[in-house]
Amino acid sequence: MSSAKPLSNQRIGILGKGGSGKSTVTVLTARALLRQGYSVCVLDADSTNFGLHDALGLKRAPAPLLEYFGGAVFSGGSVSCPVDDPTRLPGAQISLEAIPDRYVDQTPDGIWLLIAGKLGSLGPGAGCDGPIAKIARDLTIRSESENLVTLVDLKAGFEDSARGLITGVDWAVAVVDPTKSAVRIAEDLSNLVYELHEGGMPATEHLESQDLVDLANSIYRESRVRLVLTVLNRVPDEDTEQLLRDVLIDYGIEPVAVIHEDPAISASWFKGGALRTSVAEKDAEPLVAALEAAATARMTRPAAAPAV
Ligand SMILES: Nc1ncnc2c1ncn2[C@@H]1O[C@H](COP(=O)(O)OP(=O)(O)O)[C@@H](O)[C@H]1O
Ligand SMILES: [Mg+2]
Repeated sequence: MSSAKPLSNQRIGILGKGGSGKSTVTVLTARALLRQGYSVCVLDADSTNFGLHDALGLKRAPAPLLEYFGGAVFSGGSVSCPVDDPTRLPGAQISLEAIPDRYVDQTPDGIWLLIAGKLGSLGPGAGCDGPIAKIARDLTIRSESENLVTLVDLKAGFEDSARGLITGVDWAVAVVDPTKSAVRIAEDLSNLVYELHEGGMPATEHLESQDLVDLANSIYRESRVRLVLTVLNRVPDEDTEQLLRDVLIDYGIEPVAVIHEDPAISASWFKGGALRTSVAEKDAEPLVAALEAAATARMTRPAAAPAV
């Protein structure tokens, strides 16, 4: 009998407003998954912000996968933007053990880290970060370890989701801090996934061949994403938590975890080094439990009757 755990081989995308705490939630969730016995791979897919490697406890960041896959199309390479060119990234299904050492590193506590790419290192006029988004959409890591989960830490806002990135994750986590904008983006994400499940298709008016239109549509039709789970972050007290819950419930959203505000977290991001928190260390555990429950429900649910 297989000993695979519910989230084995699944991809979890961390999304939400800029600064809402995606990277913080990524670090705390990676550690919570480790404690549950998973092997954890983090894909840093934020094309702009630095520091995730440091917060995970690594002195140096591994080299970007954009280089491994041959560079961005805008600088003569082969990795294209998924909106201009929806074709799948060749070689993106890869085993962790096959990735050259230069492009992968492991933290002292055992979390694997990969970096999709950073625009800042590409010089002025680098084009857009679509190629980085394509790597985030398509990279599927397998491992000899049966219980590997991939966490994808995404760029701010809604843009990457609109580019189709959300089609490549099994579960989307929307991070909401106490701001209106974060609430609104969580609502947009929930609506996007609802529309995907209702058969919503991508914008294709700009695509020149019918083959590409068909491919773009099939990527949406075959979308892996099952559910958006919402997590509150930077919650200072119970009143703020209740306020956020009251606003979100109007959108039909019930948060599955609450990450508390801890000055040690902001100090840690500022000073560098592994993320430290005494207050919030275990706060991502209910998120892992909710993800496992959703994944178990998916495995045991009888196949839906075909639509008539
Ligand atoms: N739970 C928290 N408690 C205190 N400060 C936090 C918390 N979460 C995030 N922060 C602060 O917010 C900043 C942005 O968080 P980060 O996780 O980098 O967000 P994102 O990845 O969404 O841009 C951090 O540098 C830190 O100062
Ligand atoms: Mg971040």
